[in-house]
Amino acid sequence: MSSLPGAPFLHRRAGELWLEGVRVADLAVRHGTPLYVYSRGAMRAALEPYQRALAARKHLICYAMKANSTLAVLQTFAALGCGFDIVSGGELKRVLAVGGDPARVVFSGVGKTAEEMHFALAAGVRCFNVESESELTTLAEVATQMKRRAPVSLRVNPDVDARTHPYISTGLRGNKFGIAHDRALAVYQRAAQLPGIEVAGIDFHIGSQITDGAPYLEAVDRLLDLVEAVERAGVTLSHIDLGGGLGITYTDETPPPADVLIGAMLERIDARGHGAREILIEPGRSLVGNAGVLLTRVQVLKRGGERNFCIVDAAMNDLVRPAMYNAWMGITPCALRDAEPETWDVVGPICESGDWLGRQRSLTVVEGDLLAITSAGAYAMAMASNYNSRPRAAEVMIDGDAAHLIRRRETMESLYAGETLID
Ligand code: LLP
Repeated sequence: MSSLPGAPFLHRRAGELWLEGVRVADLAVRHGTPLYVYSRGAMRAALEPYQRALAARKHLICYAMKANSTLAVLQTFAALGCGFDIVSGGELKRVLAVGGDPARVVFSGVGKTAEEMHFALAAGVRCFNVESESELTTLAEVATQMKRRAPVSLRVNPDVDARTHPYISTGLRGNKFGIAHDRALAVYQRAAQLPGIEVAGIDFHIGSQITDGAPYLEAVDRLLDLVEAVERAGVTLSHIDLGGGLGITYTDETPPPADVLIGAMLERIDARGHGAREILIEPGRSLVGNAGVLLTRVQVLKRGGERNFCIVDAAMNDLVRPAMYNAWMGITPCALRDAEPETWDVVGPICESGDWLGRQRSLTVVEGDLLAITSAGAYAMAMASNYNSRPRAAEVMIDGDAAHLIRRRETMESLYAGETLID
């Protein structure tokens, strides 16, 4: 069944679901469910078009690790030459834990604390993507105290519509992100005067799960207008950071391939005479989303009433995207059964009606069956919580025929290990 998102790494053999050279049902037996399973081959393959499109010029691909920050995932991308886009001190700590190079790290985010700035400067990050004038002031103070200069790129809000879910659209004037396009020149002029600040580049990030190339090209044009104005004012920008946000196919979306999108953006950049600048890019979802599945076992089938419920052992605490964004995630049995399908709402055991994973799905299932939720490599485990005192799932990384447990299932005791009773 080549229509599986994540194919060819995710595929069927004799009706059973395999990821690379491993039958996923075997992993569920060995490690229990819910279980996240990733393909290292799929991650490498997703990176390849980015690398190919940028090979001819100075560039840095910074994996936006918020999508999946598990150490073995970071290790995989570091080994492939990637840097990282981080949004917290905690993420930087993870990069350092896998031996990642801080000089290949860009630090994004609207609310960096002075402590985080200090930590990142001391570690030697490549660049701070500054999102406000207040942040610039604080960063200049922190750097001056440390007798350092902080390399800075201003994240400009280009005011373009990425045409995605409102919660993950970030490049409109009404969003909390970035510095307004019409303020950016003045902020650059101020940045150039500030002690402790070294102007390095410019960036944008207009949203996530973007399936249309047009808003990117609009954003590039707006950004280049600004680059030219800033340089006319005597401030040099050595790199352009194109952000992340390229969408993936969950069901029938047809985002442009990464190399095609990048090619189109580079064409604009070159046409306006900016081809010599270093290009940074911050993809997250498109590198890992279709490399992962979440395995879950059917606990209870509840027929009748208005709907049929297929109650599984994964829940919104493991995968919040449906509850939070009304997101559609693929759900497929790990072994196909030869019987008429019925229509099910696939839900978790959490005490909320919002705890659903897929609605009105046509499936042939019996209790005890194993299901795979597809495209679950991004913003899935990374957004997991312990709601209802549910330990977070284990994770396995497949590489060819080998399956590595890369995160143990949390124990129940660990859930309250940091808590104390009152004397
Ligand atoms: N750079 C910046 C500054 C970002 O804020 C983000 C994502 C990225 C890069 C990577 O974007 P990507 O290539 O992964 O689309 N939890 C949501 C997605 C939130 C995205 C936040 N920012 C979801 O599950 O759809």
